[in-house]
Amino acid sequence: MVDIRNDFLGIKSPNPFWLASAPPTDRIVNVTRAFKAGWGGVVWKTLGEDPPIVNVNGPRYGAIHGADRRLIGFNNIELISDRTLQENLREIKQVKRDWPDRAVVVSLMVPCEEASWKAVLPLVEETGADGIELNFGCPHGMSERGMGSAVGQVPEYVEMVARWCKQNTRMPVIVKLTPNITDVRFAARAAKRGGADAVSLINTVNSIMGVDLDAMAPSPHTDGKGTHGGYCGPAVKPIALHMVADIARDPETAGLPISAIGGITTWKDAAEFMALGAGNVQVCTAAMTYGFKIVEEMKAGLAHWMESKGYERLEDFIGKAVPNVTDWQFLNLNYVAKARIDQDLCIKCGRCHIVCEDTSHQAITATKNGERWFEVQDDECVGCNLCVSVCPVENCITMEQLTEGVDPRTGRPIDPTYANWTTHPNNPMSKAAE
Ligand SMILES: Cc1cc2nc3c(=O)[nH]c(=O)nc-3n(C[C@H](O)[C@H](O)[C@H](O)COP(=O)(O)O)c2cc1C
Ligand code: SF4
Ligand code: SF4
Repeated sequence: MVDIRNDFLGIKSPNPFWLASAPPTDRIVNVTRAFKAGWGGVVWKTLGEDPPIVNVNGPRYGAIHGADRRLIGFNNIELISDRTLQENLREIKQVKRDWPDRAVVVSLMVPCEEASWKAVLPLVEETGADGIELNFGCPHGMSERGMGSAVGQVPEYVEMVARWCKQNTRMPVIVKLTPNITDVRFAARAAKRGGADAVSLINTVNSIMGVDLDAMAPSPHTDGKGTHGGYCGPAVKPIALHMVADIARDPETAGLPISAIGGITTWKDAAEFMALGAGNVQVCTAAMTYGFKIVEEMKAGLAHWMESKGYERLEDFIGKAVPNVTDWQFLNLNYVAKARIDQDLCIKCGRCHIVCEDTSHQAITATKNGERWFEVQDDECVGCNLCVSVCPVENCITMEQLTEGVDPRTGRPIDPTYANWTTHPNNPMSKAAE
């Protein structure tokens, strides 16, 4: 029997799917709907000091769609909660009372002064909330006021504010990191030094979605002017996966609990983040695109997959892929693979041929006996995977490892031993040359 209950920093929830701090967690009516639909927890929309901020009354969201109109990337210029602190705190207390088995974490963003943090923490504590998340990630609007990513981009500030919070509350402290930084490990290390119990990532990526060429302004725009906003949704998942993995395998932060965020739309996305070390996941864009009921598929899909793999609890696979994330220099240079085309699946569109011909290694035929025929020439194929990436038919082209004989491209025998760049004779720094 599979058990998907989650324990993150001692915060218990019936499943690892939390809604990220954003419009879906903005007020009691949304959160109640979310819990009814089955979400395990929420991070409440970021609270700030009174008087509340004001949002624009023009468009605050933009989107990039695939050819089938499926939403791939999403962008917003929304700020933190535009309701008073008291209104939010009252609702948080009510929600926690109504849903004691769900996780309710409160996201906070106040000025970078100890007095401001000291003032807000007891108010949150009084609601019975399970923890706080420090929003050091918002890249627009608040950062210009010295908050959000303006804090998250300076490791010393991250450490300082995390420490203030740890000193002034008994609630678990999660530091939410910004991806708008050269190396996320510095901010994660700083959070840990400051005593944070966990990090969550990613917040949104700074972006301009497009340019309206009639208005000659960024799109979307308000009264003819546009501004940069935060990018999220499926398009940012690879960025988030990399950053989560970086923190999970950094010797200084390994073991620091991670709540993963970024483009999670299906159970599989969640499982991938958890395999890379995340203790649970948070979702925003997918809920804003498809509604709260997507959590049903997430829960059922995750449980079904775990069962098929023999994992009984989340802990059985959390972090399991981390040891297999490595640096390029440690990849096996003796590994040889060639593309294989399944002729029964091939629809003879020719895309693999043209990309290999124009931009790779001229390794795929176009004709045989005057007919369209696409076949890989092993003596040219370098195994780059480009044809697999562009073929419109799933699993029509696959990569096959050569385990014996000679690589017809190089004429060299297949070597079953492992050898990487650190010992390669072409490497001027090669250890073998010592
Ligand atoms: C409209 C919108 C508003 C958001 N507001 C907040 C916020 O108030 N506080 C915060 O920490 N993150 C905020 N975020 C960021 C999300 O919590 C999340 O980190 C990001 O969207 C990436 O997750 P996703 O790809 O699932 O959307 C917001 C995102 C969106 C789309
Ligand atoms: S793997 Fe690369 S080199 Fe080989 S056939 Fe495909 S595109 Fe060409
Ligand atoms: S891209 Fe795929 S379907 Fe098209 S010709 Fe190549 S193998 Fe066949």
